[in-house]
Amino acid sequence: VGQFSRDSLEQLFRITDIMQPIARRQKVTRILEGAVLANLFFEASTRTRISFGAAFCRLGGSVCDTTGFTFSSMTKGESIYDTSRVISGYADALVVRHPEQGAVDEFARATNIPVINGGDGPGEHPSQAILDLYTIQREFSRLGKLVDGAHIVMVGDLKYGRTVHSLIKLLALYRNLRFTLVAPSTLEMPAHILERIARGGHVVEQSTSLAQGLKGADIVYATRIQKERFADEAIEGYTPDFQINQALIDSTCSADTIVMHPLPRDGRPGANDLSTDLNHDPRLAIFRQTDNGIPVRMAIFATLLGVENQVQHSMRDAGW
Ligand code: CP
Repeated sequence: VGQFSRDSLEQLFRITDIMQPIARRQKVTRILEGAVLANLFFEASTRTRISFGAAFCRLGGSVCDTTGFTFSSMTKGESIYDTSRVISGYADALVVRHPEQGAVDEFARATNIPVINGGDGPGEHPSQAILDLYTIQREFSRLGKLVDGAHIVMVGDLKYGRTVHSLIKLLALYRNLRFTLVAPSTLEMPAHILERIARGGHVVEQSTSLAQGLKGADIVYATRIQKERFADEAIEGYTPDFQINQALIDSTCSADTIVMHPLPRDGRPGANDLSTDLNHDPRLAIFRQTDNGIPVRMAIFATLLGVENQVQHSMRDAGW
């Protein structure tokens, strides 16, 4: 996300708006006809993998899609460098998700074609954060609010949750934000990210009390505890204090508060995550987030492959 300014983000959001009718299957474009995406997921994914693939197809391109390590000759000791060099001879863009922080950057440094980070271990998840910010802007526009000056509460695993690492940095491009970070003491936001946010003139408060932290929130952004990224003993001692549920939202938040989550969530009863009892509450934006994943990722491809202006031209030619 460090590659974005507020201007370039807002330009991406304008292209995303243009992509919305294509993403909703009301319009058709073939601007990426003949192009090939290599969608390489070395870690499990539902939303990111399928929506990147669907976004590329909706622009007329084709997708080679892989999951896990066994698909590749990396199981025989081939390096990331060689893998990236080889695949970039076959494809026009790569999306890579990898369990190790920095691995996607290694793919990018080996090639001249665009490489998009689909999530690198506990590092970053930029496309998720971009679609989250796009969703926040749309929700705020409906409510007559601005992102500048907003109070954002992030809850859960802020240490290993890569989405919140990217989202807080993007939000910091706006002005006068107040962040309340509610996490178990073992899973707090890394200090280097906190220092960067504070340097931007935003207010950052940390809390271990959910009921206290949610008060006055414009956005509640919940995250899953990333149990796969740390030893079992570290997760003892904080259940069940971090569950976001209907009773808690009703008692602490307003009718205008937006509740978000990058998903997947642990939907089992009593899980320390976003409860399913909020599913019919209009404040819950999780499926509006997932729907926005397609047009945002279409806009990312169109921009990186230099065809963003062709979308507008083809719309004009087709009399849209
Ligand atoms: N939000 C997200 O990254 O979901 P997936 O792991 O299913 O891609």
